[in-house]
Amino acid sequence: MQLYTLKSQVEKSIDKAKDLKKTIGLVPTMGSLHQGHLSLLKKAVQSCEVVWVTIFVNPTQFNNKQDLNNYPKNIKKDLKMIYEISKNIFVFNPEISEMYENKLKIENFDFQDLDKELEGKYRNNHFSGVGTIVSKLFNLFKPTKAFFGEKDFQQTRIIDRLIKIKNFQTELVICPTVREQNGLALSSRNALLSTENKEKAAVIYKTLIYCKENFEKKSFKNIYNDCKKEINSLNDFELEYLEITDNKTLKKTKKNDVKKSFRVFICVLVNGVRLIDNILVK
Ligand code: PAF
Repeated sequence: MQLYTLKSQVEKSIDKAKDLKKTIGLVPTMGSLHQGHLSLLKKAVQSCEVVWVTIFVNPTQFNNKQDLNNYPKNIKKDLKMIYEISKNIFVFNPEISEMYENKLKIENFDFQDLDKELEGKYRNNHFSGVGTIVSKLFNLFKPTKAFFGEKDFQQTRIIDRLIKIKNFQTELVICPTVREQNGLALSSRNALLSTENKEKAAVIYKTLIYCKENFEKKSFKNIYNDCKKEINSLNDFELEYLEITDNKTLKKTKKNDVKKSFRVFICVLVNGVRLIDNILVK
């Protein structure tokens, strides 16, 4: 495995790979890797000749200092996990100053309001921060394919838009959410939960399934009230949002449109830890 911390090292290696016409796969992460990340890496290894994983906790996508400070980090374990997937994966683990020079400047993008919905209502500038770092990474790696998880579906819609805005020649590959046996979507933030709350957090996936099963049968208002009551009755649990939206625009829309696809999104705060998830409804 090759571990780099400087952009100049990456540039050299990417230039070499491009000269040899190799396909480049990029898996951007913030570290504290779990099986969900590893599924992205495995997919990248299967379909690209050169694979890079980036480990960088991007400060500009956190609107809350405490959330940034609490974000779990475990680089030694991460490297071991990557090595077990393949010895040939390249790792980029830069310092903040390497990615942002002296100031944490955010770029603004026209995400056509995708950034105003769902997470965007609660995390000011979050998606500008994501767009800024992903744009820097795409410029650096010029990936043929970039791999992201469906768990952060809104993020994948933002990156799809970013690719169009910046005319990146990169294919966005969205990989299915990996779950615990109880249905809880894998997330680096799960490491911050107590064992008991991790078990109880099965309610999140159960809620999504309930929404899917009742989408045609009940009004959304009734579905929402049932779910809110159930979740908020659990100690430490608070429903932040539950929405069923158009799968593409992420806007609330009438459900009698037969041609449309719908997706249900949820965010639950568990003792202050933000857990998000989503599934396709129809
Ligand atoms: O999904 C994440 O881990 C981050 O938002 C990403 C895409 C690595 C950008 O920092």
